[in-house]
Amino acid sequence: MKKNKLTVAQIGCGAFAEAQDFPNLTKNPKISLKWCCDISKDRAKEMAKKFNVPEVTTDFNAPINDPEVDMIKISTSHEVHLPIIEAAARNGKHIFCEKPMALEEDEAFKIISAVRKGKVKLCVDLNRRMAPSMHSLKANWLKHRANPRHQSWRYVEVERELFPEEKQAQFLVRVQDESYSYRLVHLDPMKGGGLVFGETVHWLDLACWLYAPQYPVEIQASGSARFSHCINLKFSGGDTTTILFSCGGTFDYPKELYEISSSGALFRNNFFVENEYYGVPGLDRELFPMQHDPLKNVGKEGGFSAYMKKYAERAQKTKGNIKNAAPFSVDKGHENMLNTFVEAILKDKPSPCDEMAGFMSTYLAKLAIKSIELRQALPVPLDKVVPCIP
Ligand SMILES: NC(=O)c1ccc[n+]([C@@H]2O[C@H](COP(=O)([O-])OP(=O)(O)OC[C@H]3O[C@@H](n4cnc5c(N)ncnc54)[C@H](O)[C@@H]3O)[C@@H](O)[C@H]2O)c1
Repeated sequence: MKKNKLTVAQIGCGAFAEAQDFPNLTKNPKISLKWCCDISKDRAKEMAKKFNVPEVTTDFNAPINDPEVDMIKISTSHEVHLPIIEAAARNGKHIFCEKPMALEEDEAFKIISAVRKGKVKLCVDLNRRMAPSMHSLKANWLKHRANPRHQSWRYVEVERELFPEEKQAQFLVRVQDESYSYRLVHLDPMKGGGLVFGETVHWLDLACWLYAPQYPVEIQASGSARFSHCINLKFSGGDTTTILFSCGGTFDYPKELYEISSSGALFRNNFFVENEYYGVPGLDRELFPMQHDPLKNVGKEGGFSAYMKKYAERAQKTKGNIKNAAPFSVDKGHENMLNTFVEAILKDKPSPCDEMAGFMSTYLAKLAIKSIELRQALPVPLDKVVPCIP
């Protein structure tokens, strides 16, 4: 592409678009936001007014047929991704699509085929893989794994060769969420798909990103596809991931905690604001700024304890009325994903989370649900790891 700026259309102007898409799109100097599209005209108008967007429509074909538009951002409910993506790809528009990319395997195949035929780029917003704190966690872990160094006080009963399993890494994703925060549409099997689709695709993707070029070989899940569940995922090199997703939790404690245990060390990501490292000489904890922090004067020490103080102060101030409060969020990688995708389009580089990653997380979500239903571990066949889609 010979341009240095992209004209963009936002399709779906709901809660997520208001919280992330519009602020991030309007902040990027390489984007000119032209369209607000939503089947609710009032909502499209409201967002166009709030974010100063010139064109409003209820029909996604309007921006897709606009020759000025280079990229669309899809933040509708999941079931309309396919028709929008097929129309956009036919018209040569690049596509930034919310997760999950699809609810069904064949929908995902059609999406892959459409973007390949249209020779356009697609990015799925499986944003955790683009969080700055995750990048640092992965880099530090890989460095340690390649050349393990240990504290002088490491407890060693007797020097010996490691058994093969001792060389494998375990990745634990602990999610505790507040089920009252979900709308019924999230649980609707035709529109939301339940929380394996609505939420856990993030962590299925994150595990694949962390362990690449290993690929998943087996999945075992238990619990409920629409609410709390546990998923174990094995990778081709023997590394494993456990995702423990509970809906019985509270917003009063951060939702996500990540831990990699590997080669006599622990690498912990504490809700995107702090990484802690144990067992590795000289590796200090790292602090990461929040994406939106309206309480910069609270918790000046930064990191997890500062986040907890800010959260408590905000809870006191807003008394639960967070819809009209100033944005408050940790950096889960949304902005980084958008900005990296924009660069990928302008400089013809690979998408940071392409259609194959979108397919893999959809496929693994589907397989996890099947595993829950059958109460069995299931293989991930090789032909699903690299499907042949001409
Ligand atoms: N990446 C993340 O971390 C993250 C977080 C939250 C939500 N999301 C995703 O964002 C998407 C939207 O979620 P939400 O919470 O904003 O839902 P929402 O219901 O608030 O918004 C969806 C909007 O899409 C509109 N819409 C539906 N069909 C349409 C169509 N054919 N054309 C145009 N507009 C249409 C609806 O009218 C609605 O305004 C979902 O895919 C969800 O998974 C992602």
